[in-house]
Amino acid sequence: MSRETLDPRRHNRSGNRHLSDLIDSEVRRADAGRRAFLKSGASLAALSMVGSFGAAGFGAAGFGLLSCGRQEEALSNAGAGLPRPLGFDSIAGSKANAIRVPEGYTAQVLAPWGTPIDEAGVDWKADGSNTAEEQAHSMGMHHDGQHFFALDGRSDDGLLCVNHEYLDVRALHPDGPTVDPQSEQRTSADEARKELNGHGLSVIRIRLVDGRWQLVRGDEHNRRITGYTPFDVTGPLGGHEALRTPWSPDGRRTRGTFQNCGCGYTPWGTYLSGEENWPEYYVNHGEKTANQLRIGQDRERTSYGWDHLAGHPSEKEGEFSRFDLTERGASSTEDWRNEAHGVGYVVELDPHDPQSRPAKRTALGRFRHESATLGELKPGRPVVFYTGHDARFEYVYKFVSREPWDPADAKLKDRMAVGSKYMDHGTLFVARFDEGGFGQWLPLTLESPTTDGGRLADHFADLGELILNTPAAADLLGATPMDRPEWLALNPEDGSVFLALTNNSKRSAETGTNPANPRLRNVYGHILRWTELDGDRMRWEVFVYGSSADSPTEINRSGLVESNMFASPDSVTFDPRGILWVLTDNSAEAVDRYTNDQVLAVIPGRLRDTEGRERPLQPGDENELRRFITGPLGAEMTGLTLTPDGRNLFVNVQHPANWPVSDNATEAPAEGQKVRPRSTTVVIRREDGGPVGV
Ligand code: FEO
Ligand code: CA
Ligand code: CA
Repeated sequence: MSRETLDPRRHNRSGNRHLSDLIDSEVRRADAGRRAFLKSGASLAALSMVGSFGAAGFGAAGFGLLSCGRQEEALSNAGAGLPRPLGFDSIAGSKANAIRVPEGYTAQVLAPWGTPIDEAGVDWKADGSNTAEEQAHSMGMHHDGQHFFALDGRSDDGLLCVNHEYLDVRALHPDGPTVDPQSEQRTSADEARKELNGHGLSVIRIRLVDGRWQLVRGDEHNRRITGYTPFDVTGPLGGHEALRTPWSPDGRRTRGTFQNCGCGYTPWGTYLSGEENWPEYYVNHGEKTANQLRIGQDRERTSYGWDHLAGHPSEKEGEFSRFDLTERGASSTEDWRNEAHGVGYVVELDPHDPQSRPAKRTALGRFRHESATLGELKPGRPVVFYTGHDARFEYVYKFVSREPWDPADAKLKDRMAVGSKYMDHGTLFVARFDEGGFGQWLPLTLESPTTDGGRLADHFADLGELILNTPAAADLLGATPMDRPEWLALNPEDGSVFLALTNNSKRSAETGTNPANPRLRNVYGHILRWTELDGDRMRWEVFVYGSSADSPTEINRSGLVESNMFASPDSVTFDPRGILWVLTDNSAEAVDRYTNDQVLAVIPGRLRDTEGRERPLQPGDENELRRFITGPLGAEMTGLTLTPDGRNLFVNVQHPANWPVSDNATEAPAEGQKVRPRSTTVVIRREDGGPVGV
């Protein structure tokens, strides 16, 4: 998200931003760190196992885990010891109002906002007049993270889970939202209901027929999760006093999911989705709590004004009142003070079972979540998920399950029960990135020592309270404030983890830099990577710095040129071939002048120093990072996922300005043509049917 709502403001006032003069020391650190970056023997060995997109490329269940048996078409070049380079030439930047792809590729529009998913849905109307009920049976707005779940390992038939992050209310309704000009209050309950139904997630069955992907309307799997859908609340906050509301007096349920941004998947076949900028959906007209102020819930107006409809004659079960957190009753079951405690989580959904109830997995923390990225998976070892808090000066987290991974659980049918086993009990950690390229994961437990010599138990009554206030707890441990953590990606070659830090224009001499966020006024963003070490430590380095091609070398530290300059990395994903896909949500003018948002690709496993050690992207590497897609005007690119055979790449185009005009994503509107913009999935395929990108 960037253009339709405010960027998250700076809420973190913890003062965890020591080391204000570190640009020089960062340069020293980078040199030292590079020399010392772990020689990845395992990584080199793994290169020979990098699976191609054969039938089992993603593993039987369709996940991004390597099948070691797929060696015959491996990308790796046995002679050189390095994978082959990318199989396409970098495309030029584009300011066209259409998708651009390399020669030999096609781009199809699939399931844009408003596409009916079942028989109760009604075809999308170009005048915006579909009803709230019709919206509940159609694709939501503002597609974001997504994942393809192959059915029976197939690459022409599967379930696509799609996040719908937020809304463009001007496009959603025929003439935009209805607002009383005197009171500036929203007045239409039906509009608000359509907006609530435009949020959430979609699960759709999709099939490849004669070279074109189709949504299988009415398939039993098809499902919309909206702002009304009941969720179980599990983990430390399940049944907690802080979750009790008039709708859920026992604190075990909540309604709806909002601002679903980054995503993830589990080894047991479920989909994960991060709730990001939800604080702006709620208002407290009374005295704000410390918790609300810390997360940035300090405004007097909500994003869409659903709270204005509180008490509307047609209101049911507090559907609008719940967005007003003001204390009015004698307890939390007589007003909605606790309603926002049901949001701000990683949510889990089983797309294979349309009857299953999704869950809020509170053990993974409560903040503005981006992706929930599965870490390296090993039998007998804990299951790990990484997740970032996307706001300026916020933190990066990892969750480590209490239970060791049992591969037999991947085959169980009650996937939500498996999710409960691995995601409801465990330890949440927050990252501290130190000088010298080392870092430390700090556990967020009641016993954890705080930087002032106390314990977290001095501040939080129980683990539920701690989770509810995750960023405040992390402040007390001395976590490193980052330049807006977006998605994380696991390198299947060696288990290293990549983190997109999208930008932070507010990093100033006053706030200071730190080793992992070394550039003042970081408008271009950067990508960090680390390798886990024993003792909850890590070894980290900056993998690439975003920049315009003409920035001075102090800014353009990775030597980007016209063919690969980028800003604001956001959605990052590895595919099983070791390709890192970098998608942008750019707000840097010097890059925006040259190109719309884009998708780039790089194979980090190819970047080695003379002694075979992994190294970051550096000047002279311009052919290693290549531009693969450019988006239409106004749109952010997000949510890249592939079929197991690698021949179909799905990517989302969010908040285009005046597009699409047909199901050909490369078609631009005619001169003067105005269309109602629709976020959509786009499918990229090769004209010769071969694997994408190689
Ligand atoms: Fe929804 Fe942080 O992007
Ligand atoms: Ca973003
Ligand atoms: Ca994002």
